[in-house]
Amino acid sequence: MKLYRAKDYKDMSRKAANIISAQVIMKPDCVLGLATGSTPIGIYQQLIDWYNKGDLDFSETKSVNLDEYKGLPRDNDQSYYYFMYNNLFKHVNINLDNTNVPNGMEPDSDKECQRYEKVIADLGGVDLQLLGLGHNGHIGFNEPDEAFGTITHCVDLTQSTIEANKRFFASIDDVPKQAYTMGIKTIMQAKKILLVVSGADKAEALYKTVCGPVTPQVPGSILQLHNNVVVVADEAALSKITL
Ligand code: F6R
Repeated sequence: MKLYRAKDYKDMSRKAANIISAQVIMKPDCVLGLATGSTPIGIYQQLIDWYNKGDLDFSETKSVNLDEYKGLPRDNDQSYYYFMYNNLFKHVNINLDNTNVPNGMEPDSDKECQRYEKVIADLGGVDLQLLGLGHNGHIGFNEPDEAFGTITHCVDLTQSTIEANKRFFASIDDVPKQAYTMGIKTIMQAKKILLVVSGADKAEALYKTVCGPVTPQVPGSILQLHNNVVVVADEAALSKITL
């Protein structure tokens, strides 16, 4: 695990965008694993900026997203497809046919999860997986549990995640209670992983992820066992870790 210290959110975003950009330049037809949430927004803005300046070309790039709320259609403004479309896809020249997000409208969980695993396998796996970190140490929607979730599956969201996400919905009752997510095994099969973390409110989760025991109670801690993980975190998020 390599840990890079960024000064602040902007610096974190730029450093992480540099890593993604290097991946796309070195392998234009790479498979990017993408994340939603507040943390990657600055990264996507930076990538869009470099694309607009002619420094990046996504025409051959493929993407697979980590997760999607079950029950939300793509055009719902809280769906993760909608997020990706508006925060990245529509601003760059990625072919939408090459982008993949779990289908939240598929009611048959087994069918959708098997389909999504096959999509990833048929693409040859993920070259670079971008991850954010939940306050409880979750990655994707793999919540603290008795065992690590394996392949893509349907999860019941924890109360803490529902609370954290309610800011995006009219009321807490509107927050979906289930989601499709890549599993820990799916994530760990990515060739490279880029974990981005910002803010003092994530300091405890980052400390446990990087320095604590590997335990399904802190799903991100499994990343200690991957042989190619880069963590880019800002000073506030790193405040509990002595480098
Ligand atoms: C998003 C995802 C989640 C987020 C995590 C952090 O696709 O899978 O694991 O990365 O909840 O979210 P933010 O960045 O909003 O703090």
